[in-house]
Amino acid sequence: MSGSDDEAVQAPPPEERYAEELAFLKAWDPGPRPPRWQLTPRAVVHFVAGSRGEELALPGAAPKGVPKKLAIPEKFVGERALVERCVVTLAGERGLLLVGEPGTAKSMLSELLSAAISGTSARTVQGTAGTSEEHLRYGWNYAMLLARGPTREALVPSPVLAAMEVGGIARIEEVTRCLPEVQDALVSILSDRRLAVPELGDGGIVQAKQGFNVIATANLRDRGVSEMSAALKRRFNFETVPPIGELGREVDLVERQATSAVARVGVPLAVDRKVLEALVTAFRDLRAGRSKEGWAVDKPSTVMSTAEAVGVATSMGLQGAYFEVGADAALGLLPGYLLGVVLKDDPKDRGRLLAYWDGAVKRRAEQDETWKALHELRRVLEE
Ligand SMILES: Nc1ncnc2c1ncn2[C@@H]1O[C@H](COP(=O)(O)OP(=O)(O)O)[C@@H](O)[C@H]1O
Ligand SMILES: [Mg+2]
Repeated sequence: MSGSDDEAVQAPPPEERYAEELAFLKAWDPGPRPPRWQLTPRAVVHFVAGSRGEELALPGAAPKGVPKKLAIPEKFVGERALVERCVVTLAGERGLLLVGEPGTAKSMLSELLSAAISGTSARTVQGTAGTSEEHLRYGWNYAMLLARGPTREALVPSPVLAAMEVGGIARIEEVTRCLPEVQDALVSILSDRRLAVPELGDGGIVQAKQGFNVIATANLRDRGVSEMSAALKRRFNFETVPPIGELGREVDLVERQATSAVARVGVPLAVDRKVLEALVTAFRDLRAGRSKEGWAVDKPSTVMSTAEAVGVATSMGLQGAYFEVGADAALGLLPGYLLGVVLKDDPKDRGRLLAYWDGAVKRRAEQDETWKALHELRRVLEE
């Protein structure tokens, strides 16, 4: 077993990872696009939500290095209409605010949209309690400031200012974690579409170029959107990103992402589909507080997100590969990993997982071999 490429980096941004698809989609739809967009709105939606299995063909000759035909795989799993609404918002003059539970792919969606629209997802501010107005507006290169005074060259633009100057998308992650007065710096940027730099005198007003917009994300947990000022809320169109609706689509996604994660260390994913189905079903039951049969389930306080399910499937795949566990025996690893996800904040969550075992898992065990085997592993969950 060997790692693939020594030069490979972890988590390359979507504009690099999907460079071929983006170049293809640019040539595929040469139609009219909003100012400074790299792709048409229709092509952006195809990039994010996939071409529904259809192989797209270029209308004319293929530019160098671009394939003539390509099927675009789905990246964000969800309603296509949601992606369309996001794209329409970004073509207008209100910001886009993606809200939802942690791990519902808000950040991923925001990266994909900026990569497709502006060619980069890198103009990003990470909102934290320590984020200052400078992070959203501008700072100074102090050595240059002292040597030459406040000049354009001494100005260090924030990712937001940089996006205004080129007419691109800026991303603000977890905007509600910023202090309210810091959030308010965004109000004037989003409404006036300009930013004043008083230190530069009369020439110190940066007017946003056409194409500039902001995608912000906010979690419903911790400091939520309820703490956002009304003035700022009005500058955004809100889109709620829900957890994945259908079991089958969630299992497909978990399988796909875990497969590509273990492929990076050069092995196939040796976890049976049945095991992945049980894993995702358990996550969904505990997330919803209701089993797929409609039985009540005591919900743990932890977020049982798809992102966590991908993490568990990947760990099971890696453990299987490194320690030579067979695909069917991978089931034995599931309860331990599940407990690891559930047991984070509240010690009572162990009891909730045990109750799930004594309820839904036990009832299914009467009919189904996989659940029967899982039920027999109950002791792994005990203290
Ligand atoms: N609907 C979805 N479509 C595609 N991937 C998803 C989806 N929901 C969760 N994921 C997985 O979860 C990961 C983490 O999502 P992330 O964007 O960090 O979530 P958030 O910002 O909402 O907390 C994604 O990279 C992906 O692996
Ligand atoms: Mg996020």
